[in-house]
Amino acid sequence: MSQGRRPLIAGNWKMNGGLDEVDSLAGDLAGRMAALDGPPAFELALCPPFPLLPMIAARIEESGIALGAQDCHGAEKGAHTGDTSANLLAEVGCAYVIVGHSERRADHKETDDQVRRKAEAAQAAGLCAVVCVGETEAERDAGRAVAVVVGQVAGSVPEGSTSRNLVVAYEPVWAIGTGKTATPQDAQDMHAAIRAALGERFGAEAAAGIRILYGGSMKPDNAAGLLALADVDGGLIGGASLKADDFWAIAEAVR
Ligand code: 13P
Repeated sequence: MSQGRRPLIAGNWKMNGGLDEVDSLAGDLAGRMAALDGPPAFELALCPPFPLLPMIAARIEESGIALGAQDCHGAEKGAHTGDTSANLLAEVGCAYVIVGHSERRADHKETDDQVRRKAEAAQAAGLCAVVCVGETEAERDAGRAVAVVVGQVAGSVPEGSTSRNLVVAYEPVWAIGTGKTATPQDAQDMHAAIRAALGERFGAEAAAGIRILYGGSMKPDNAAGLLALADVDGGLIGGASLKADDFWAIAEAVR
């Protein structure tokens, strides 16, 4: 990663965690942050399920760990049963919100257009939108990976995005929860293609400041190789973020 971009290591807990379990996980991580000698080389963020947000916010208060949510609605407020507004997420202490995760694109048929509206709502609420993109295995096998991902970036990233209100997460669908990861070369090529697409839209200088995370079976044993790549600015971690030792080892792989 480059000097100017502070690597972000974000844990996406997905639909996991009971009260006791997450309380001790967040407390453990906050303790590790407090025990550090100086400021860490990384920024840490935790993205728990909605009901846990206020509790985790209290647990990580003043630890330097940021809070994130896993989704938000594209509207400011209104009759949307079961949905959560970006404004409320900001009020309970979120700095980040993941939008357009492939599991939501698949489970809830979210389109690029909807994802963009969610990201816009997040940015309007003062949050940093973590916009997820990634190709399926069939799309990669057909040689369409870059075209698909660059298309998702074009459709899902709002106009006027900046390094402060946008993070892009490249998560190849075939790598999520499967134990398969992109090769360093494939990851770097894709991240460079995403940055080039952001550069065409927002200018090279702005694009150089926007963090692009890798996600998909990132673990302690493969993190260092991925995080060392020129255009990989951190990780969006699923399974390994549920274990304090593993998540911390990934964060410490940032050099
Ligand atoms: P895994 O790390 O479990 O593969 O999940 C990645 C992911 O989807 C993070 O958003």
